[in-house]
Amino acid sequence: MTLQRDPVARSSTPARTGYRNLVREDRVHRTLYTDPEVFATEMVNVFGGRSWVYLAHESQLPEPNSFLSVRMGLRPVIVTRDRKSALHVVFNRCSHRAATLCREESGVAKSFQCPYHGWTFRNTGELVGTPWPQGYGEDFDRAEHGLHKLAKVESYRGFIFGTLNGAAPSVVDWLGPAAAWLDYWIDRAPEGEVIVRSAAHRMGYRGNWKLAYDNAGDGYHPAFSHRSLLEMASRMGDSKDMSYFGVSPDEGPMRTYLLGNGHSVIDQRPNYDGPGSFWANQRPQPGREKFEEQIRANHGDDADRLLDLCVGSQINLSIFPNLLVIGNQIQVVEPLAVDRTQLTWHATAIGGVPDAVNTMRMRTQEDFPAFGEPDDQANFEEVQRGLAAPEAEWILMNRGLGVDGWQEVGPDGVVSSTATDELHMRRYYAAWLQLMTEEAM
Ligand code: FES
Ligand code: FE
Repeated sequence: MTLQRDPVARSSTPARTGYRNLVREDRVHRTLYTDPEVFATEMVNVFGGRSWVYLAHESQLPEPNSFLSVRMGLRPVIVTRDRKSALHVVFNRCSHRAATLCREESGVAKSFQCPYHGWTFRNTGELVGTPWPQGYGEDFDRAEHGLHKLAKVESYRGFIFGTLNGAAPSVVDWLGPAAAWLDYWIDRAPEGEVIVRSAAHRMGYRGNWKLAYDNAGDGYHPAFSHRSLLEMASRMGDSKDMSYFGVSPDEGPMRTYLLGNGHSVIDQRPNYDGPGSFWANQRPQPGREKFEEQIRANHGDDADRLLDLCVGSQINLSIFPNLLVIGNQIQVVEPLAVDRTQLTWHATAIGGVPDAVNTMRMRTQEDFPAFGEPDDQANFEEVQRGLAAPEAEWILMNRGLGVDGWQEVGPDGVVSSTATDELHMRRYYAAWLQLMTEEAM
């Protein structure tokens, strides 16, 4: 292949070139995945400085004074409940000499004492004590030395988001049409209660965080990247996954919907028909037949509904920049460096169903991440290796661009397209560009 010359000089840095030259209608520049300077700006602007970022699920903080240590971009933060259960998010960074204050992942605590020199803070962030206070002058005011706090913390039906931008719109406005997709996912639970309580599944890869976000809205790759998983399913049973072989998903009923602010969803539900069909097309598992027999014997007409709740929601919802709701799971994208990322999968249980349903949900959540995610992460690492060639400058996202009949505007104004259209990337990069270049949201 002949290398194309391009006005973007290969030696120029993104800061010199300007981000607007690096995000084009049909392509993005490789440096957005490789340049530490881009990454540093993303960690400030995209991950919380200007926009909302997903932090935690409320069920991970089950009682008053619960806490959870997470990151907002690279910033270590503690999500806490106070004694009345109100939510707060403070920097996990002592206001004395910057040591992290809380080194546990989760727990219950009314206050945190810094292990370095013993300063103590309430779980709402106020400084309440300094050892040997006679060492500070009379003008030392504890009220000036509390922990840094986020400007805004809001929860949408259990999903906690935070931002440092005091002028950010409400979470529900920012979610826009994505809120209705979260509603569908949450309201599958009979009591509208989704519970994240088990240990998380964590996997790290040597690649940029956006590779995971690119892929989450990508209906193009499964037939190739997950071939072994799909073949296993097709050998073992009559699965809808067979629709991937030989037939382009663009000819099927699945659609991708664009939801604004970089959010999108792939809706696989049109592949299924009626109660019990999610379950009927689940990949085979040991003990599945006996389990189904028991549910049908014990629950009669309600069995199909309960069996469908054992398996995934059949949507892949991407909330920019870091929340992916896939099947029955919550996946969090956690950047570590320009070429290192951690993905954390939280399995979920639901209220209002027999325990056996939640037990089976755990089994059906095994195939992703355990089997499917290594396929994806291997691709992310291979893309990052490919990006080491500076002479090949561009990553394409032009599939579907200008193809007649693919994109439609629904009556609600929501744009949709076929599942392999790279419209998902083109639209989220527009949101990314705005956060990277404009003064405010
Ligand atoms: Fe926390 Fe000194 S760094 S008390
Ligand atoms: Fe995949």
